[in-house]
Amino acid sequence: MIRPLDIGTLRVETNLVLSPMSGVTDCAFRSLVRHCSGAALGLVVSEFVAAEGITRDNQRTLSMLRIEDRERPVSIQIFGSEPTRMADAARVVEQAGADIVDINCGCPAPKVVRRGGGAELMRQPERLESVVRQVREAVSVPVTVKIRAGWDQDSVNAVEVARLVEQAGACALAVHGRTRVQLYNGSADWELVERVAAAVDIPVLGSGDVVEAGTAVERLAAPGVSGLLIGRAALDNPWIFRQVGDLVAGRLPFAPGPADKVAALKLFRDLLRETLPDQAFMGRYRGMACRAVKGLPEAATARRRMGSAASVDEVTQLLGEFLAGAGDRAEAQQEPVAEPAMGAG
Ligand SMILES: Cc1cc2nc3c(=O)[nH]c(=O)nc-3n(C[C@H](O)[C@H](O)[C@H](O)COP(=O)(O)O)c2cc1C
Repeated sequence: MIRPLDIGTLRVETNLVLSPMSGVTDCAFRSLVRHCSGAALGLVVSEFVAAEGITRDNQRTLSMLRIEDRERPVSIQIFGSEPTRMADAARVVEQAGADIVDINCGCPAPKVVRRGGGAELMRQPERLESVVRQVREAVSVPVTVKIRAGWDQDSVNAVEVARLVEQAGACALAVHGRTRVQLYNGSADWELVERVAAAVDIPVLGSGDVVEAGTAVERLAAPGVSGLLIGRAALDNPWIFRQVGDLVAGRLPFAPGPADKVAALKLFRDLLRETLPDQAFMGRYRGMACRAVKGLPEAATARRRMGSAASVDEVTQLLGEFLAGAGDRAEAQQEPVAEPAMGAG
């Protein structure tokens, strides 16, 4: 169930975590989800950040370490394969104000695994052990690790890796129950998450396919599992953690209406403005607006119009108009409104 979670010396108020997502969970998005979900959300995790870029003073990489107090507690995830470089990067991350340093051992991207990072670390236990140990020695904040099930179906080694990272000093572990070869296909293996949880004493959190509040409640009941991460479901529903909290407390889950969705989009616009250069800003903003209409009748038309809108204000206005008329269009089609992309309608 929902409860506080002790990660090393850090107590987080709930065991519901915003999963790291590259290109998504930057400071602006994390702040948005914190705003929409409030106290039900225990911890937010950054997109993965290259240890190489951090230690080479790459300004674009360093800008990914931006943290605001409003989103805390926040974990910054780093990736790489060289223990010394990872330790140096972790020091910079701690200085940037991270409450936790998380080590990525699950990224399946060829450009990452080819250089020994991400999921490749699960095939190199000695190197992984050294990475965790050196990072642990470099910082005083808790260090956590996020892994996959293993490399492929014939080499599922999450249990062994979990024991190893526990011995090396990790304070908690997140398990995405898919192999590297599976990428995002098939379904996440939550029985494996339970087996990992039974094998170690540190908290083990599960990740994968928690698509709505009801799924989260089921997963929270998995024996031994200390908490869960939600990723893709938060992309178009930043209220999801609040909805899980509602359901667990026996309340009807919060159902955001059109006004809530437009307000969230405006907040996201302001948060992005704080953090992103102009060009990247419009792309991220449009992406969010397009996700907000997912599943609604005539969503493709709305996406097309927002896609060719000339300004930020026009995107916001089009979304408002579209959401305001969504109920009528659904009735006209004589079918129930599909689950709106940014939460239940
Ligand atoms: C767009 C995207 C980017 C991701 N980036 C990261 C990442 O940077 N680090 C990481 O550990 N996992 C990353 N993941 C994996 C997620 O954290 C999560 O484990 C996975 O999506 C399964 O959970 P979900 O079904 O709740 O999305 C990413 C997933 C997606 C969809």
